Formats: sequence, structure tokens, C-alpha cells
Amino acid sequence: MIIAPSFLASDFSRVAHEAKRVDRSGADWLHLDIMDGNFVPNISFGPAFVKSVRPHCKKFFDVHLMCEKPDILFEAFVQAGADQMIVHVELGDQVAQLLWKIKSFGKKAGLAINPPTTISNVLPYLDKIDSLLVMTVNPGFGGQEFIYETLPKIQQAAAWRTERKLNFHIGVDGGVNFETCAECARVGANVFVSGTTIFHQRSMKAAVRKMRKIVNAHDPALADLAV
Ligand code: DX5
Ligand code: ZN
Repeated sequence: MIIAPSFLASDFSRVAHEAKRVDRSGADWLHLDIMDGNFVPNISFGPAFVKSVRPHCKKFFDVHLMCEKPDILFEAFVQAGADQMIVHVELGDQVAQLLWKIKSFGKKAGLAINPPTTISNVLPYLDKIDSLLVMTVNPGFGGQEFIYETLPKIQQAAAWRTERKLNFHIGVDGGVNFETCAECARVGANVFVSGTTIFHQRSMKAAVRKMRKIVNAHDPALADLAV
């Protein structure tokens, strides 16, 4: 189970302080949302910003590219300290090549899927990815309501993962709080990206510990063992 605070919900006026909070929080990854004002109707931050975060946080940097042309940014994000780069399946024909390019930098490759996109679109890529990120809100903004209709997609992805004996991570991103994380874990998610819920707590350490405890309690693998 991987807990990944999303930096989009941090206080941008205190970047170093916020990065250190994550570093000491007991979380596993730091999720970084890159929005280009084109693929999504918002702009967040770019490689220079990520580079300024890197010295303050040793966590695995999970870079989520909500961008129409992500490949023009790969090299800069590698230089900035990315460990994984995630592109969107909605980019269609380009996806196979994008995943291959990420791998050619020696980085982990991930694929994200938006709520309205049918899950079968990710099928051709499942043996080529390290992570599948199921968007549980329409991307572009933090603090949105979790879309429950995405739960069957997580369940389907988990079934394919078992059937095909693959071991990519299944992440959820958007509206993940102390209630919805349990629903996601129950259907097979194992990476929990959470912005508002984790950053807007006085103690990030306590929030991470709480979310970890909840998702572990809903881990279907452990439930099987208990039977
Ligand atoms: C949404 C982003 C998310 C966002 C999640 O477009 O991809 O990573 O930061 O934020 P919360 O947890 O506040 O919904
Ligand atoms: Zn994200």
C-alpha cells in the first residue's frame, strides 16, 4: 500500500517547508501534478518548480503529466528528479511511443485514465506499465468530489492484473479521503494519491498513518488470508 500526498494541495509560498513535511510524514511517494492549460483547463507548475522541491524531499517523485504533448517535457523532468512519469491514455495513438520513451530514460512509466474513458482503452498497455492511475475526478483541480462510478474500473483493472499475472500498481487520484480510500482499497487499488485530505491536516504524519491503517484494513489480499 502506497500513500502519495499530492503537492498540488501544498502551500506554494512555502515550498521547502511543505516538501520537508512530506519527507517526514511516513508517506511513500510525492505526487506532482503537471497541468498545461490545454489537456486540462488549469496550469500548475513545471520542471523548474519540481527541481526546487527535490533537495527537500527524498521520496519517490511520481510525476503526473496532464499535458497534450508530454514528451517535450520528459527530459526536463528527468533532470528535475522524476522517478516515474505518467501520461494519459486519452492521447491515443501516441501512448505506446510515450511509454517507450519514458522507459528509455530509465524511469518508471505510468498510464492515467479519465473518468469518462472506458477501461478497455488501457488493455493494450498493461504489460508495458509500472502504474495505472485511475482518475477518480475529472483532472484539473484539487478538492473535488470523488466519482463513485469509477470504482468498477479499478475492480476490472485488478482482475486483469491477476489474470495476466502482471504486477503494475493501481493508483487512484482525486477526492481520496478517509472514507473513499477504503472503497478503493476494497476493489483492488494500492496507490492512494491524496491532496486536500493529507495536506490540510495539522499533522501530516497522523493523516498518513490514519489513511494507511484504513487501506490496510480493506486490503482484499489480507481479507482472503483471514478467511
Ligand atoms: C487532479 C490531480 C490530483 C489532485 C488531487 O487533477 O491529478 O492529483 O491533486 O487532489 P485532491 O486529493 O484534493 O482531490
Ligand atoms: Zn494527479
